[in-house]
Amino acid sequence: MAEIKVRERWGSRIGVILAVAGSAVGLGNFLRFPGNAAQNGGGAFMLPYFISLLVLGIPMCWAEWTMGRYAGVRGFNSAPAIYTVIWRNRISKYFGSLAVLIPLVIYMYYVLIEAWCLGYAINYLTGSLMLGSDASKYSAFFANFVGIESDGALLAEGNRTWLLVLIGVFVCNFILIYRGVNKGIETFCKVAMPIMIVLGLIVLLRVLTLGTPDPTKPDQSVIGGLGFMWNPHPEKLWDFQTWLAASGQIFFSLSVGFGIIVNYASYLSEKDDLALSGLTSCSMNEFFEVCLGGLITLPAAFIFLGVAASGFTGSTFALGFQALPNVFAMMPAGQFFGFLWFFMLFVAAITSSVSMLQPVIAFLEEGFALKRHASAAVLGVLSAMGCLFVLYFSKNLVALDMMDFWVGSVALFMLAMIQSFLYAWMFGIKRGDEELHRGAHIRIPWVVQLMLKFVVPVYLAAIFIGFCYQKLPSFDKPEFETSARHAASLSDGLLSESLAAEFAKRELILPEEPAVLRERGGAADESWRIVDASENLLYRIVPGPDGLVIKSRQPGYVESISRSRVATLTVLFISVLFGFVLVLVHIAGRRWQAEGRFENIPA
Ligand code: ALA
Repeated sequence: MAEIKVRERWGSRIGVILAVAGSAVGLGNFLRFPGNAAQNGGGAFMLPYFISLLVLGIPMCWAEWTMGRYAGVRGFNSAPAIYTVIWRNRISKYFGSLAVLIPLVIYMYYVLIEAWCLGYAINYLTGSLMLGSDASKYSAFFANFVGIESDGALLAEGNRTWLLVLIGVFVCNFILIYRGVNKGIETFCKVAMPIMIVLGLIVLLRVLTLGTPDPTKPDQSVIGGLGFMWNPHPEKLWDFQTWLAASGQIFFSLSVGFGIIVNYASYLSEKDDLALSGLTSCSMNEFFEVCLGGLITLPAAFIFLGVAASGFTGSTFALGFQALPNVFAMMPAGQFFGFLWFFMLFVAAITSSVSMLQPVIAFLEEGFALKRHASAAVLGVLSAMGCLFVLYFSKNLVALDMMDFWVGSVALFMLAMIQSFLYAWMFGIKRGDEELHRGAHIRIPWVVQLMLKFVVPVYLAAIFIGFCYQKLPSFDKPEFETSARHAASLSDGLLSESLAAEFAKRELILPEEPAVLRERGGAADESWRIVDASENLLYRIVPGPDGLVIKSRQPGYVESISRSRVATLTVLFISVLFGFVLVLVHIAGRRWQAEGRFENIPA
């Protein structure tokens, strides 16, 4: 087929592999993976994890590489255009708007976390993060650093330096993107990936040679740390949550369903290999995730903090930004290793964040014939607005969490489902197989195509439904049972001191003036609610067989929207942005139609 003139190309095969791997290897590998694995069965987690990798991750990556290159050699680089080439239908381009929205929104909060990493690395250089062994100091440092206490805290007078760091990180991303896929992204990844490997291996070596730093606690050794992370808990395999966590981890980590790989692959030529390159970049990601992410973070935390480390596994940020700094403070030469670690995280993050900008730039250029400086300027304004939004609404990181849930998880699954439908059912697995093997150095068994057509959509749909079922609705979690004598103290008004003491005994948090309200209606008459000042339900008190059962309210994501003004605003912000992207895609579609761009495309 005669090649169509395209704007950009990757420079070399190793360059594109490193760029895709750079996009995949990020904070998800080093911070999200260890907590996920430890919470969901340790060594046993690796079974659903590898099944998800083999059944969903790698086949979906190949499908994205195939669709991207197929459309790319026909002169298209943006997802709305790529999907139209794959499925000649008027609605295909609108699916593509999701592949523009997802990287754009994820960039808005990801770049902030990236700046935290650089900020922490700088704080190690100046010594400000060597705060001794008191764990509370690290929580306080983090809370202050990211503005957890109140909205707008980061824009206050004393935070100028930190804002400069953020602006610097933002500008670095845009310099790379401005230089283009070959001179910017590829050149940078060729340097950044080896740096990451070297830094990661140095920190790993340090952790694995720690021995037993405190002889009075012989269990807290390297072997103990590895056991803490990796001892298998097979009973977890029966828990659906383990399977959800495994596939969510594979998606986020490989950058599948982000709209990135289709775009990156569109800069390849027909002579380029897809099969081996796709496999190599996935393998690189797994090396970083399992060998570096899995052997450093939690084992190190256990060696110094003991079982207290398990308190950090539930939160990516607590593990990375509170537990680890505490660990570095106790480790010999901890200041140096702390710097190396956070600098490596920063490098890992920037190779990923820059990959989130490229699909949007490609769309602005292709859809509106904008030159690079104009598209970079438009994207700069859009992403800065979103970033400022997350930066300003920093209280309890609600805005960040909302974006990560609705876009970084829900939308990701949706796009993956759309792509599997486009590839296997519209493009066709026979054509897909031919295209995947054009220029390939290895042969991928046909069964992978069959999996893409039949297994992947079912697996994806099951995981998606399970995920929504678990995360969207609220539920009441039984916390403890207490004596029936407390029932006498219950009446509309303040919670009695004796009952409040029961909460304190179990370290359950109550608001300053917890109010009690009777549940109204039918059997609920004997039940009570503990609410905060805004009348949000925090706990339920219900009669149990031997007294009173206290249940904490675990608000699902739907309830969180109605509970919090910032959560509502964030969802509104995402919806408006989505509407805006849809309009842009519509206008671009009209232009392409007027230009006849999809007529006479070679089959
Ligand atoms: N794949 C990237 C990460 O793991 C987004 O952080």
